[in-house]
Amino acid sequence: MPLERTLSIIKPDAVAKNVIGQIYARFEAAGLKIVAARMVHLSRGDAEAFYAVHKERAFFKDLVGFMSSGPVMIQVLQGPGAIAKNRELMGATDPKQASKGSIRADFADSIDANAVHGSDGAETAAAEIAFFFPGVNVYDR
Ligand code: RTP
Ligand code: MG
Repeated sequence: MPLERTLSIIKPDAVAKNVIGQIYARFEAAGLKIVAARMVHLSRGDAEAFYAVHKERAFFKDLVGFMSSGPVMIQVLQGPGAIAKNRELMGATDPKQASKGSIRADFADSIDANAVHGSDGAETAAAEIAFFFPGVNVYDR
């Protein structure tokens, strides 16, 4: 499997539940390394720009409101097949559909407050990493 990087966000609901460490432990147990991280309280404008691909969707306003409702923890995960591996660890978008033992099954309450974001492909991963970590602060380790 190729070495990849993907962007992960621990959303405001999971930060509020104080489970950043438990979610990080799952990344690490699955062989994903955290190579950059920062905590941010996104403005509405930041959330709109980050989720711009969804701007025509009915849920966009709720999504932007939720993502800017409190601090989030943003990280770059690196490892073999990191993009798909992170999506597998996350589980389905709707926690009711998420497989047993996934992050969303264990920590999410609803399709809006669904604990985590993960890039869904190589192109989005590169764009999302550049959005939050422009420049030099992503490490090779
Ligand atoms: P994410 O981008 O946050 O990792 O989630 P995802 O790929 O699993 O889902 P996506 O289709 O990209 O949707 C982005 C976020 O929008 C909210 N959503 N709400 N009410 C709805 O039907 C609906 N569909 C999506 C979710 O919070 C989802 O994570
Ligand atoms: Mg998505």
